Amino acid sequence: MDKLKAVAIDGPAGAGKSTIAKAVSRELGWVYVDTGAMYRAMAVYFLRKGIKADDAEKISAAAGDAFVTLDYVDGAQQVFLNGENVTGELRTEAVGNMASASSVYPAVRTKLVELQRKLAESRPVVMDGRDIGTVVLPDAETKIYLTASVEVRAVRRYKELVEKGETPDINAIAKDIAERDYRDMHRETSPLKQAEDAVLVDSSDLTIPEVIEKILSIVRRSTP
Ligand code: DC
Repeated sequence: MDKLKAVAIDGPAGAGKSTIAKAVSRELGWVYVDTGAMYRAMAVYFLRKGIKADDAEKISAAAGDAFVTLDYVDGAQQVFLNGENVTGELRTEAVGNMASASSVYPAVRTKLVELQRKLAESRPVVMDGRDIGTVVLPDAETKIYLTASVEVRAVRRYKELVEKGETPDINAIAKDIAERDYRDMHRETSPLKQAEDAVLVDSSDLTIPEVIEKILSIVRRSTP
């Protein structure tokens, strides 16, 4: 079977997927697709409508009215929700939590998975998410499962927030990460798990350049 020219990077929240995937895509000259941002754009829609994350019926119905599209400005992914650029609203804890909670519903996933497959069919991509190697692009040439310990991920997030001028509570961040991991790994539809043919990369004790180099060497090995 022909393999798809794509790098699929899956892993838990805060493992550094988007930083690494962006850098890898730049090195390869391929397009970076951040699928988490698509779930976050859907989450913005549900939050604006005041829908509760556990209201399966309302979320499934509203998913039908939310159209997410992507565009690229100077190589940076921009996410549109029903034609409005919502890229600047995606990276809050509230949106992240709603994205994690609402992504359990098949109505939300089916729609976004279809869009993700179309994007990957049209050009070589580096795509990151939770189910890219297992569900979205099972034929991807390279599959990476990028992870790091909860403690390391909490410290990274803590530093990011401090840099933004916030005064976060490290224990609350660690708890939030552990809960999100649990939800992402235990949901019924497309749970986060390592694909059988994915290479495990644990970034806990590696620098960003080391992780990028490691992944590029895996890509070189798997690309004919
Ligand atoms: O990677 P992120 O934190 O931006 O993703 C936000 C949420 O979206 C994450 O908690 C789970 C969901 N998600 C998903 O279910 N499948 C994906 N391929 C990407 C993200």
